[in-house]
Amino acid sequence: MKQHGLVVAVVGATGAVGREMVSILEESSLNVAELIPLASERSRGEHIEFKGESVEVEVLEEDSFAGVDLALFSAGGAVSKKFAPLAVAAGCTVVDNTSAFRMDPDVPLVIPEVNAEALKGHHGLISNPNCSTIQMVVALEPLHRCFGLKRVVCSTYQSASGAGQRALDELRDQTVDILNFKEPKHEKFPRILAFDIIPQIGSFYEDGISEEERKMIQEPRKIMGLPDLQVSATCARVPVFICHAVSVNAEFEKDVDLEQARDALRAFPGVKLFDGETPYATARDVSGENDVYVGRLRRDPCRKNALDFWVVADNLRKGAALNSVQIAEALVQADILSFKRK
Ligand code: A2P
Repeated sequence: MKQHGLVVAVVGATGAVGREMVSILEESSLNVAELIPLASERSRGEHIEFKGESVEVEVLEEDSFAGVDLALFSAGGAVSKKFAPLAVAAGCTVVDNTSAFRMDPDVPLVIPEVNAEALKGHHGLISNPNCSTIQMVVALEPLHRCFGLKRVVCSTYQSASGAGQRALDELRDQTVDILNFKEPKHEKFPRILAFDIIPQIGSFYEDGISEEERKMIQEPRKIMGLPDLQVSATCARVPVFICHAVSVNAEFEKDVDLEQARDALRAFPGVKLFDGETPYATARDVSGENDVYVGRLRRDPCRKNALDFWVVADNLRKGAALNSVQIAEALVQADILSFKRK
């Protein structure tokens, strides 16, 4: 650590999530003395703004982490698999926003409002959960604490930004092409996304479940400490630029009390409950916001122990960059940013 604060690297600083990480680091309680933005050869010579200064982007190398206290990774799973262990070996604590290590039993998978205690005893590597998983679990946790969660059936409506900056550009180009009667192209998405909905995120396993759906099934079990939680998920990409929505049907051990559910959601940090005359928020409302917005909360008409609701959040912020920075803040607050090697 520098005398007056932390040396923080952002790996993938020129990407959709990386840019948010840099901007959230500016607002955070972390005392950042030096920011090192890292990206690929493609970004050589680029600059990013941090605290009113222009900082040159560096090309990620094996020795990029000497003297770095904290690294936030969001440059894809392959980059994390190669470089996160090198960063940890150099004594740097890594918060990784890819799926590379999430299900590794030695790696905490953390949403600070839900399971900050899992950070204790970490070995330098912490995983940030999947974006849709985070917003769903933030809404499920207060309800679970009241009624005991048993089963979840969910459908996601995920924006283009979840697939990165080039995917955002692709949706914009497709939209412009279609409106100009040109043939649209696709590369980042399996089909044309503009003016359509694609029920595929990632490739499919043999059982027909997609990679994104598998994350929605497995990650809540680990984060919530509920290994037997039943989850069934359908994940779809929608032609929205930023913010994911999730429709959730949650079944509990106990019968639900709607007023108690509302109170629990209102009291939970990072949740905003929409009810009354405006019973929901949309992507347009919450883009750029930090909270998880829960709306359409109602009883499942067929079961006394189940609720239906709608969750929207900015996938680049709470779904990725904000949660990563909050993990780092929790480590600093608990005085466990530095770690013992295994
Ligand atoms: P670059 O912009 O130089 O390609 P997104 O998720 O929006 O696609 O962003 C991915 C981020 O990860 C970008 O900052 C990108 O840098 C970075 N990145 C991708 N591949 C590598 C790599 N092999 N080494 C370092 N950074 C990488």
